[in-house]
Amino acid sequence: MKIFAYGIRDDELSSLRKWEAAHPDVEVGYTGDTLTPDTAKLAKGSNGVVTLQTTPYEREALEKLSEYGIKSISIRNVGFDNFDFKDLNDFGMKLTNVPVYSPNAIAEHTVLLMGRLLRRVPEVDVKFDNGDFTWAPTIGREYREQTVGVIGTGHIGRVVIKILQGFGAKVVAYDVYHNADIEKQGLYVDSLEELYKQSDIITLHVPLFDSNKYMINDKAISQMKDGVIIVNCARGELIDTDALIAGLDSGKIGGAGLDVLDNENSVFGHKWGSIDNLPNPKIKNLAERLNVIITPHNAFYTETAVHNMITVAFDSNKALIDGETPNNLVDTSK
Ligand code: NAD
Ligand code: COI
Repeated sequence: MKIFAYGIRDDELSSLRKWEAAHPDVEVGYTGDTLTPDTAKLAKGSNGVVTLQTTPYEREALEKLSEYGIKSISIRNVGFDNFDFKDLNDFGMKLTNVPVYSPNAIAEHTVLLMGRLLRRVPEVDVKFDNGDFTWAPTIGREYREQTVGVIGTGHIGRVVIKILQGFGAKVVAYDVYHNADIEKQGLYVDSLEELYKQSDIITLHVPLFDSNKYMINDKAISQMKDGVIIVNCARGELIDTDALIAGLDSGKIGGAGLDVLDNENSVFGHKWGSIDNLPNPKIKNLAERLNVIITPHNAFYTETAVHNMITVAFDSNKALIDGETPNNLVDTSK
């Protein structure tokens, strides 16, 4: 059996080597390149593909894999919104993801973004860089005085709630599916409008679908509290960037912590020397603000997460090739 992996980084190699050593019957090939119609040929002769990228998986690339007889695809990450399920189904391909490689990694990053905004750390850092060791005007706010609205109470949202409760914040939550524990704690509100109305901070932890693209738009923002902080560690396309910028301009939005951005691939993954050189004017606009913190989709990026992503993805791919049905098989019928 041979598995070919795309987008492999140096920091994944030790976990990859460990997996290889534990599976001497499996030949592993890899590249640092992403899966494209051009790089698909590298997988020729393999039985399955393990991959990770934030750019769309092109139909032509999948078609080529299918022509080589590769029907088993395993992504190393949670979100599968960069696949068109029709392509997978047309080529009879099965897909697995890694649903819980480390919800804590993303949840901790989320709460850190909130904390840095509450304590106005970007402004404090500018003062420090100028040798200004005075206090004013960067007076902060405490978690225990905040109501945090958590949208999506899946694996990540629930860890966010637990951490926030440790800080003494009041939590309200919204999800189309009610988790028993969150329900028992009485945290759910009945509508997004209600969550917007009550929350000082709003954090997004839902997958991206066609139906919720730009769910945070002018209308949603108009229903929020004045000075609201918005945090997004889920998917960039959940927020309409124009609406976010307008909200920041008017002061309706007091701050934003963004690990993901609409059209983030125009900027993330490159070294620009300075934010002055960012080629995307909307992202540059956001990056220049002291009440906005942008991180390069690295909420997931911990040693634990990376190890689990490699191990589970390779295990799953092997299982698919062996004709098994792993419990992390993605339902591509919807
Ligand atoms: P999950 O599937 O465990 O939870 C998602 C929750 O959202 C579920 O409870 C579901 O019922 C709910 N939901 C779905 N549609 C909804 C809607 N329209 N309104 C309200 N609730 C809705 O997923 P998770 O592991 O918590 O991950 C959430 C998202 O975080 C992923 O889909 C992915 O996009 C993103 N993510 C980002 C990073 C990062 O590094 N920034 C890493 C991993 C995952
Ligand atoms: C995910 O796992 O869905 C992420 O967003 C992490 C990233 C490496 C794609």
